Amino acid sequence: MKKIFVTGGQPLQGSVRTSGSKNASLALLPAALLGYGETVLENVPHIGDIHTMELLLNAIGVRARLLPDGRMFVDASRIETHMAPYELVKRMRASFCIAGPLLARLGRARVPLPGGCDIGTRAVDYHIKGMEALGAEVRIEHGYVEAHAKGLKGADILLDSPSVGATCHILTMACLAEGKTVIQNAAEEPEVIDLANYVNAMGGVVRGAGTSVIEIEGVKSLRGTSHRVIPDRMEAGSFMIAAAATGGDVCVTDCIPDHVTAVILKLRDAGVDVEIGPDWIHVASAGRPRPITAKTLPYPGFPTDMQQPLTSFLTIASGTSVVTETIYERRFKHIDELCQMGADIKLEGQSAIITGVDRLTAARVTASDLRAGAALIIAGLMARGTTEIGGVEHIERGYENITAKLSALGATIGCFEEGEDTAYARACG
Ligand code: EPZ
Repeated sequence: MKKIFVTGGQPLQGSVRTSGSKNASLALLPAALLGYGETVLENVPHIGDIHTMELLLNAIGVRARLLPDGRMFVDASRIETHMAPYELVKRMRASFCIAGPLLARLGRARVPLPGGCDIGTRAVDYHIKGMEALGAEVRIEHGYVEAHAKGLKGADILLDSPSVGATCHILTMACLAEGKTVIQNAAEEPEVIDLANYVNAMGGVVRGAGTSVIEIEGVKSLRGTSHRVIPDRMEAGSFMIAAAATGGDVCVTDCIPDHVTAVILKLRDAGVDVEIGPDWIHVASAGRPRPITAKTLPYPGFPTDMQQPLTSFLTIASGTSVVTETIYERRFKHIDELCQMGADIKLEGQSAIITGVDRLTAARVTASDLRAGAALIIAGLMARGTTEIGGVEHIERGYENITAKLSALGATIGCFEEGEDTAYARACG
């Protein structure tokens, strides 16, 4: 088992490049199954979830290969099976979204109900309703979704809530359905826009992505194409918050500032200087943050994926902050760990009441999910002493080279195999 050791107290200084978006890549790769011929996705991050998706595509007989330079080649001219392997889909929720393209291409799909970060029930009922609306017969048995369709037909679909995954999944299926599909109450996240741009480049006809109403005109077939993945707005936000939390001075480059407006505004509310350029964001902070309130909402509201990192930052505010989570029912597992580090946080319903303390202190903590891991790294960067973080496998699912990137910003941080006898690990005791 790996551990991350981080010694707090150094303000982060310098600039850091944003990698390609995990969540956009995980929407684009299932859509690549729609196309005959080769797709080349550029700027794909080398992270655990992408490696899982690469294994999954190869497991169904699609040639998929991620090169060291971040180019991912996918040729879905032939798909050998409609059955997705249990162990890969259980490892990552986004794997479930290959069901739709398999259904659209092969007329059937057999995919296990998904796994993924333990932050809530994470149902897929909207995905299944979408399949049924497009004419599929869907059965759930023995933990598998079995779907069959003799050709999908366009439909009007209303989502009960603007689910990112369901929007992307239905959009992907509808591209090869006969006729027009309209998704009402669609998610407006940048990853949906990136997916629509990719599918349109494949020969699809998708209009309205980025709004709550998306129209898809089905076409007979799509072809592989090349596409550059947008920057990862959650990685950018995580580094912005880390810079503010350490009283640092950091420029986050190769990002799209418009994608993190909510994070920028919340940091400014807390008294952090944030300057933005065409593809960079400069964050400078000194002293304790002002207390603020934040409430997670679908885009363009404050993103749920930044709730945990923001909470770490607010543990040292000069007063009491309130952070409310409205998207997931169990996205607070980082709080116990932060309290072990001296934070004063009380959970009241879906709100974390955070009373600022002078300083956190290092402790042994464990990441329960990806963004909790980011929150604990940020807390470690703030704390007095050296924090040991377990659950590194969660962190490596979604952050490319995070310890190297933070070290380049002056952090004292390293990732070691359990028992690896290194001077640093020994020093951390
Ligand atoms: C995507 O997950 C992201 N993951 C999540 O990021 C992100 O937190 C989430 O969107 C919200 O922004 C990827 O893109 C791979 P949802 P997704 O469908 O698509 C409920 C990270 O850290 N719901 O918008 O699974 C669901 O239970 C990850 O990078 C249903 O009830 O999110 C949840 O409460 C974590 N039925 C809410 O909607 C459904 O059929 C939001 O889910 C689908 C969703």
